[in-house]
Amino acid sequence: MGSTQEVIVRFLRNLGSRKEVEQYLKLFSSVDARRFAVIRVEGAVLQDDLETLASALTFIQRVGLTPVVIHGAGPQLSHQLRDAGIDPERVDGVRVTTPQALEIARKVFIRENLRLVEALESVGTRARPVTSGIFEARLVDKKRFGLVGDVTQVHTEAIDSALRSGHMPIIASLGETPAGQILHVNSDVGAAALARALEPFKVVFLTHTGGLLDQDQQIISAVNIEEDYADMLAEPWLDSDTRTRLQAIKELLDGLPRSSSVSITSPENLVRELFTHKGAGTLVRRGEHIRLHESMEKIDRNRLAELLEQAFGRKLTVDYFTRKDFYRVYLSDSYRATAILTLEDGIPYLDKFAVTSEAQGEGIASSLWHCITRDNKQLFWRSRLDNEINGWYFQKSDGSFRTDKWVVFWYGIHNFDTIRRCVELAKAMPPTLKQHSIGS
Ligand code: ARG
Repeated sequence: MGSTQEVIVRFLRNLGSRKEVEQYLKLFSSVDARRFAVIRVEGAVLQDDLETLASALTFIQRVGLTPVVIHGAGPQLSHQLRDAGIDPERVDGVRVTTPQALEIARKVFIRENLRLVEALESVGTRARPVTSGIFEARLVDKKRFGLVGDVTQVHTEAIDSALRSGHMPIIASLGETPAGQILHVNSDVGAAALARALEPFKVVFLTHTGGLLDQDQQIISAVNIEEDYADMLAEPWLDSDTRTRLQAIKELLDGLPRSSSVSITSPENLVRELFTHKGAGTLVRRGEHIRLHESMEKIDRNRLAELLEQAFGRKLTVDYFTRKDFYRVYLSDSYRATAILTLEDGIPYLDKFAVTSEAQGEGIASSLWHCITRDNKQLFWRSRLDNEINGWYFQKSDGSFRTDKWVVFWYGIHNFDTIRRCVELAKAMPPTLKQHSIGS
């Protein structure tokens, strides 16, 4: 089918490295079909971005993966209720659902569900509407919220049956009591319950904003819970929505396997988020700790050397670990990120900074930098002129000086003579990596 091919070509062109795509494809297909991904689609996205959404989901299915999709219909429902003259009252942020409102909600949910199913089918993607039978629910508090349900059990038969026959299950977030009373289930609650039942590799939230935002309204690329969570919650700029969202995500991840992660992105960026290291959106993982070592004693030198050599594409000089005393070595649990500091004339010098691109995508470089700046009030370092990371270093440093071979960076140093001394020291530092790149 012509249109499908176009979809694939369009996305592939956007993606960049084929190797990365293949790596993620392999990873995502290494688990049971039902454990690839739960994708929760915000009602507003369904309303405004249906076509892009259908293309992105189609791409994913064409490469052989089937996500389980669950959607909300918030704005559509508000609209419909208003039309019916019902004022949707909210108690503690929960939409009160009267029997009359539920009747409308049910229709709206089914209609929105079918819109997505049809959009998919129209581009040749087999999809199955699932508007009941998944969420067993009980009334939360009938007096206060009306017919709003809390999920007590998830029945996955309809999902498995859809997956078995190659259909993408499209789930509306409606629940039923064991006696058959339909209840309104918040789609975030539904998505979380579904994720706990299926334990997927990825839980994806598709939103209009396409990620969690920082103080400048920029998308935060990644959150490594182990290192960043506490500090982030303490940030005064974090708005209450983002805070609540982050807390809910942490809670969700706590109940999932360590390998699971959450991504918040938009339909436009979904494919890039899934199939590249860098992603496009916010990736949240339970992640890993970064430990500070003041000696090499507890460090596996071979693993550390491997990380450095892989990151720089060159061999370390044989005496690298013995020639100098290391002042502080930061190392992530997985040996995918490290920063090695020495002390030069009493000032910390960043001798090596290496993070694999995969770990960069997970936000480990930021966590690592956070640890460095927390512990070291001053720092200087050098980087080759053509190093791709320099743009990042320019942002992180207070100043820099360019020589014929290096850019020397520093932060926390304000005395001109000290800066000059640091530049000279950095320039004169003997090489620690061999000239030739590995494999050349
Ligand atoms: N493709 C990987 C994943 O989905 C990495 C995504 C990185 N995303 C980011 N926003 N930093 O797990």
